[in-house]
Amino acid sequence: MKRSFRVLRWLVILLATGFIIMQFYRMPKANPAIDPTQTIESHLQVSPQAEAIFDRSCNDCHSNKTRWPWYSNVAPSSWLVISDVNDARGAMNLSQWGAYDKDKQARRLRDMCEQVQDGQMPLSIYTPLHPGSKLSAEDKKTLCDWANSERTRISTP
Ligand code: HEC
Repeated sequence: MKRSFRVLRWLVILLATGFIIMQFYRMPKANPAIDPTQTIESHLQVSPQAEAIFDRSCNDCHSNKTRWPWYSNVAPSSWLVISDVNDARGAMNLSQWGAYDKDKQARRLRDMCEQVQDGQMPLSIYTPLHPGSKLSAEDKKTLCDWANSERTRISTP
């Protein structure tokens, strides 16, 4: 009994020390300034319904308007959150939509619909932590219909 308590105490000390040390390894985290001439809203006709879906399910990762959760301040969860946001912004940044040429915009519009229809987006690690971010069949259809019509519109000369 005594001995197992001693082991437990050391284990707790070890874990606590490890946790504290992790806090020194910080990943840079930022919301880069948004140029209003580069946003998706300034390049496409974003319907209010599509905008609402972006806002509650996509923008935290795919824009420079990330609402960082408290656990993005604490390692090791911070590493996960920050690297997901970095990867997501790299793949598609709705705040820097103007950087994409017509072809890439069309591809991204197609990908958006595909990713939500397949249930790949929003990421499954995100939805349980963000109530309301999960998309219903109706939401998916709304986003797809919008993305398809914008894709057609910008692809038509
Ligand atoms: C928790 C963060 C997160 C959320 C929320 C999120 N995504 Fe993503 N998304 C990612 C990451 C990370 C990648 C990069 C995946 C990769 O490259 O493997 C990505 C990639 C993508 C891509 C590009 C896929 C490709 O073919 O390169 C699209 C399109 C996309 N997401 C759409 C969406 C849409 C639409 C939403 C909202 C309905 C959304 N995502 C919500 C993290 C997220």
